[in-house]
Amino acid sequence: MTVEATFTMLAQQAETLSGTSLRNMFQEDPDRFAKFSARCDDLLLDYSKIKLDAKILELLLQVAREAEVDAKRTAMFSAGKINTTEHRAVLHTALRNQSTDPVLVDGEDVMPDIRAVLDAMADFSEAVRSGELTSSAGTAFTDVVNIGIGGSDLGPAMTTLALAPYHDGPELHYVSNVDGAHIADTLEKLDPASTLIIVASKTFTTVETMTNAQTARKWIADALGEEAVGAHFAAVSTALDKVGAFGIDATRIFGFWDWVGGRYSIWSAIGLPLMIAIGPDAFNEFLEGAYAMDVHFQDAPMEENLPVLMALIGIWHRNVLGYGARAVLPYDQRLARLPAYLQQLDMESNGKRVKLNGTLVDSNTGPLVWGEPGTNGQHAFYQLLHQGTTVIPCEFLIAARGHEDDLTHQHELLISNCLAQSEALMLGRTLDEAASQLSTAGFDEDEVALLAPHKVFPGDRPSLTLAYDELTPFALGRLIALYEHRVFVEGVIWGINSFDQWGVELGKELATALLPMVKGEAEPATKDASTRGLLTALQSASAN
Ligand code: F6P
Repeated sequence: MTVEATFTMLAQQAETLSGTSLRNMFQEDPDRFAKFSARCDDLLLDYSKIKLDAKILELLLQVAREAEVDAKRTAMFSAGKINTTEHRAVLHTALRNQSTDPVLVDGEDVMPDIRAVLDAMADFSEAVRSGELTSSAGTAFTDVVNIGIGGSDLGPAMTTLALAPYHDGPELHYVSNVDGAHIADTLEKLDPASTLIIVASKTFTTVETMTNAQTARKWIADALGEEAVGAHFAAVSTALDKVGAFGIDATRIFGFWDWVGGRYSIWSAIGLPLMIAIGPDAFNEFLEGAYAMDVHFQDAPMEENLPVLMALIGIWHRNVLGYGARAVLPYDQRLARLPAYLQQLDMESNGKRVKLNGTLVDSNTGPLVWGEPGTNGQHAFYQLLHQGTTVIPCEFLIAARGHEDDLTHQHELLISNCLAQSEALMLGRTLDEAASQLSTAGFDEDEVALLAPHKVFPGDRPSLTLAYDELTPFALGRLIALYEHRVFVEGVIWGINSFDQWGVELGKELATALLPMVKGEAEPATKDASTRGLLTALQSASAN
């Protein structure tokens, strides 16, 4: 059967299923949870509240087989040059490889280099954490500022917050935006004499990062003298020559490789600030968690394989049911930055319109990914999730245990809210139920008629839940790797390259060309009327 034929059958199944509801499906099948859930150790994926049945799941698995997900997966893990537009292997998995197997890129084992960088990171982190490595003033570093953007910021920033209970190193700060407000507000609170700056950039050319790095350099030099700069800077990059030219000492430069995509780089030296925060041992547990998911992804049968199942649910929603977005809703305040992290991982990877062979795709690709932690989101945008006209599949994340032993009651509240939301989305509330609730509450007949339609919840809205014991470094590593592999499988099915990001280029080129016009050093004559009008308005307002 062709993929097209399988999708035709999936569309027919969707039609058949439209006559029933998730509520009915749960009533009719008491084993639904057992049938539509899967595990990787303590990590549980409950997808029983996704509106599909065994026949649909089988057809989706057929799609995965027809797209040759297994062969493409092997190609990725074995350093095939699957990033075809950049002629690169895609090997973030090698960075967390805990086996003794070599990983060959162009015939050379990359594992010794990976381990050497990890060792150097561990030595540097320990020296910073212990105070053995001192500032120019001879004192321990109390604060570390990571300057980077995109993959050189979101991964370390998200994970540092997520693993706050394990944070026993210096304070970490993250500066990414070229908006001077970001670095000004950050540095204002800090003492240059006890601050270490890490400049993190894969390419070491990114305007935002280079600009902020120069601002930080000046801040140190102005306060402590030019000769102090070296003691206060370290760098992470694949472009070692460019870092050297910036003036950072070779012993403080941590490298990685072109086969690590920016949004997949948290496992590389880009993770240095996280390692400084939580220490090398906990960082290693983080890598081990990702490795556990790599093993699961490679070994678990498709129908029990968490990344494959989540990807197939994504395909079902995007390509058969036509849903354009998905919400990531961590019931975990420390995962507050996870939606932003996943936005880059997912949307920069799969926001593509051209297939590997350069022809236009014939189906929709990556959805809009967004979200906020629960319970905050409940008091903001959940109204639309429950009663709006757009169906947005939701992904809930919840730990069985929090880290706050003295606040277990609050964690119980968190769990009950998380489960209540997925239940409400699935179940909804009928007009009869709404009316009877109002009558019971004492409303008269007219009021009941007026209010009841507003209290109807259509229900039948899909959600999945990821539950895990506790948000440890291991659990977090496993979770991120799960999402990485999900993005990979979806990209394979769409036939796109999930590992380039040409879509960010045009804006960068135009910004470079516009800067002299903003400064008034060049005429915007060739620009469109809107751009000229905005420029004039901003320039005259700033002159006043
Ligand atoms: O926005 C494009 C991008 O290249 C991302 O893919 C990357 O994570 C980010 O910019 C930062 O790039 P770099 O690490 O090279 O500074």
